[in-house]
Amino acid sequence: MASEEQKVVLITGCSSGIGLRIAVMLAKDEKKRYHVIATMRDLKRKDKLLEAAGDAYGKTLTLKALDVCEDESVRQCISSIKDRRVDVLINNAGIGLLGPLEAISMEEMRKVFETNFFGAVRMIKEVMVDMKKRRRGHIIVMSSVMGLQGVVFNDVYTASKFAMEGFCESLAVQLLKFNITVSMIEPGPVHTEFEVKMMDEVAKMEYPGVDPDTVRYFKDVYLPSSVDIFEAMGQTPEEIARCVKKVLESGRPRFRNLTNSLYTPIVAMKYADETGGLSVHTFYNLLFNFGPLMHITMSILKCLTCSCFRRRTISPN
Ligand SMILES: NC(=O)c1ccc[n+]([C@@H]2O[C@H](COP(=O)([O-])OP(=O)(O)OC[C@H]3O[C@@H](n4cnc5c(N)ncnc54)[C@H](OP(=O)(O)O)[C@@H]3O)[C@@H](O)[C@H]2O)c1
Ligand SMILES: *[C@@H]1O[C@H](CO)[C@@H](O)[C@H](O)[C@H]1NC(C)=O
Ligand SMILES: *[C@@H]1O[C@H](CO)[C@@H](O)[C@H](O)[C@H]1NC(C)=O
Repeated sequence: MASEEQKVVLITGCSSGIGLRIAVMLAKDEKKRYHVIATMRDLKRKDKLLEAAGDAYGKTLTLKALDVCEDESVRQCISSIKDRRVDVLINNAGIGLLGPLEAISMEEMRKVFETNFFGAVRMIKEVMVDMKKRRRGHIIVMSSVMGLQGVVFNDVYTASKFAMEGFCESLAVQLLKFNITVSMIEPGPVHTEFEVKMMDEVAKMEYPGVDPDTVRYFKDVYLPSSVDIFEAMGQTPEEIARCVKKVLESGRPRFRNLTNSLYTPIVAMKYADETGGLSVHTFYNLLFNFGPLMHITMSILKCLTCSCFRRRTISPN
């Protein structure tokens, strides 16, 4: 059980990837400042987390079932916590969706919104009443660079993250009045099961009703670039967890936190031209006109992002 001094941190989607890493990193905090309630929708998937948590399990880490898409599951989980006390809520659970819009059913799209948007909203609604009463709390949301900038063939996933950004930007103002902080984390690509699951989906994908040109743009132009980008820019879940820990430990956390500084110019470009034309045309050119050039750029970036090289050339020390 959590002590008075410890912060109770509840995390959604801890069976793999970023959620798992955040849970383990906070539970293993040297000063034992956190009591982690690691949640997942299917407890049968607990082994990887428990193995990584080691001794921390049962001490600074507890495991609970929680499906962000189910009212009853969320209610039960929060009510099972002593005094319903959650000091930090980390909304991490999420799913991806990739492909030409014509090939995606409305049902699949709703599932993405049910998980990425309404799932996080359901969590926030469940804990905010108590946080407001206590006049303290921190809500962290795993958004994405795709919550700030649209990316071709990621239309619906991007929309779900944009929805979250708008929701939190609005709610943050009210919550601040109650001493509750909201922080968005915006990673670029991260090497997790997310990528694997999405590529598996793509491999199974059929393209009824999609014209051959679009299928070709998607399979032969977009996918290879996307794989390159993941290789060159991809971060590890540990890096994201470290960023979350920094946000938790900073006295005045920022509202937005891009975890990968290589994406800062992309977001800046959007705000530099309020007509939106610059972003749309830059992305168009990158994909359709500079395909081969992009490949070279990615190779250079890969080199630059290699940590040994970075330390020597970019870091001031
Ligand atoms: N990987 C990236 O490139 C990337 C980039 C930017 C942002 N993100 C965001 O980071 C977050 C974590 O993703 P990840 O990369 O760590 O992917 P991941 O390894 O696929 O992990 C996603 C987690 O969410 C869980 N989940 C899915 N639906 C759920 C539900 N209804 N209720 C509770 N949990 C549910 C999954 O559980 P199951 O095991 O039961 O499926 C899994 O534990 C997501 O919000 C994602 O959008 C990822
Ligand atoms: C606001 O919350 C912080 C912790 O999140 C706490 O240290 C501080 O005492 C709170 N302030 C008030 C006025 O309750
Ligand atoms: C995220 O925000 C914290 C403070 O809010 C800051 O110290 C940190 O450098 C930011 N970025 C990363 C990548 O951690």
